Amino acid sequence: MRCWSFGLRSKERRHAADSAHIVSGQLLECVAHFSYDELRTATDNFSTRNKIGRGGFGIVYKGKLRNGLRVAIKKLAVASKQGQREFLAEINAIALVTHQNLVRLIGCCVEGTNCILVYEYLENNSLDHALLGQKETRTRLDWQKRSAICVGTAKGLTFLHEEAVPHVVHRDIKASNILLDKSFTPKIGDFGLAKLFPDDITHISTRIAGTTGYLAPEYAMAGQLTMKADVYSFGILILEIVSGKSSSKADWGGSDKFLLEWAWELYERGSLLELVDPELEEYQEEEALRYMKVALFCTQGAAGRRPSMSQVVDMLSRDIKLNEKQLTAPGYFQDSDRLSVGPTSSKKPLSSDSGYRTSSEPITITHVRPR
Ligand SMILES: Nc1ncnc2c1ncn2[C@@H]1O[C@H](COP(=O)(O)OP(=O)(O)O)[C@@H](O)[C@H]1O
Ligand SMILES: [Mg+2]
Repeated sequence: MRCWSFGLRSKERRHAADSAHIVSGQLLECVAHFSYDELRTATDNFSTRNKIGRGGFGIVYKGKLRNGLRVAIKKLAVASKQGQREFLAEINAIALVTHQNLVRLIGCCVEGTNCILVYEYLENNSLDHALLGQKETRTRLDWQKRSAICVGTAKGLTFLHEEAVPHVVHRDIKASNILLDKSFTPKIGDFGLAKLFPDDITHISTRIAGTTGYLAPEYAMAGQLTMKADVYSFGILILEIVSGKSSSKADWGGSDKFLLEWAWELYERGSLLELVDPELEEYQEEEALRYMKVALFCTQGAAGRRPSMSQVVDMLSRDIKLNEKQLTAPGYFQDSDRLSVGPTSSKKPLSSDSGYRTSSEPITITHVRPR
């Protein structure tokens, strides 16, 4: 559920609509363009039977194109104005990038008020279904699968941060945006909040958007966006993958603790292995410990101390000893006017609602600061 969506003023609305046309024009050259009729046929008139997901953007349907290709069709909710922006952001960020750990955009449809994205279909839906969903939708993810999901996601993010031109900050790394193919290879999806990040700037000041439980404190509090906000969210994701627990609940450790707080407390007590998902029958203790420590490196309060994503890939995939002397306390985003670094006693989520995507009022104008 979206926390609140900001209304576009009519000028901005016109601009979004214009942009949609410009983008669709540009896209004729680089992605396939589908007619609304073809996508309606592919989804059996957008039948609820074919519904495979729902997010802030609208509804996602399973579909079959005329050539037999199975696809996921993401249809912008007509009423969602924020969705129009996200539609453009998503196309912009993903149209030209290809990587085995990023979902592949096949094409789009911009017809009248309809804005639709067509993606490769991923058989195992998203990580939150498989890992954190109801018992019926959950899949047994053994340690091997979980560690491959961590490393694959880290590689996808490394590509976005360090190899894509211009670089891309995803801004909404979380379990429901990690899609899984038939062999559980992770593919980062949902680029609706992504920002292109030119090479010569250190940070973007922007309106805050993302999902509570995954927001880096400096970004949530001051709107300072760097790649390190994604690194923070990725750290939270590792903790969820290893523990099988959701970061949006605050009831771990027999009190009202968030997952990250609980992890830090266990780390300080020297009993971090207690966090490991009890449903994991067999796992390599050393490796699980290393993963959780990497998560703590990623979620440090000071953004500058967090590793880059390529360093994270290295830390996860090589059997190296981490220099824990350099590890400092995590930062927590507690509520709208407080920033905390290190454990304190009264954590509150931004709202009691869990796992929604939030977006602040458009009060800050995006600007860049030279290095
Ligand atoms: N390519 C896909 N293959 C399979 N399921 C998908 C795919 N894309 C999205 N989904 C499902 O739809 C949900 C919402 O998609 P997402 O792209 O995150 O949209 P939103 O921007 O609305 O959050 C995902 O969490 C997942 O369950
Ligand atoms: Mg999503």
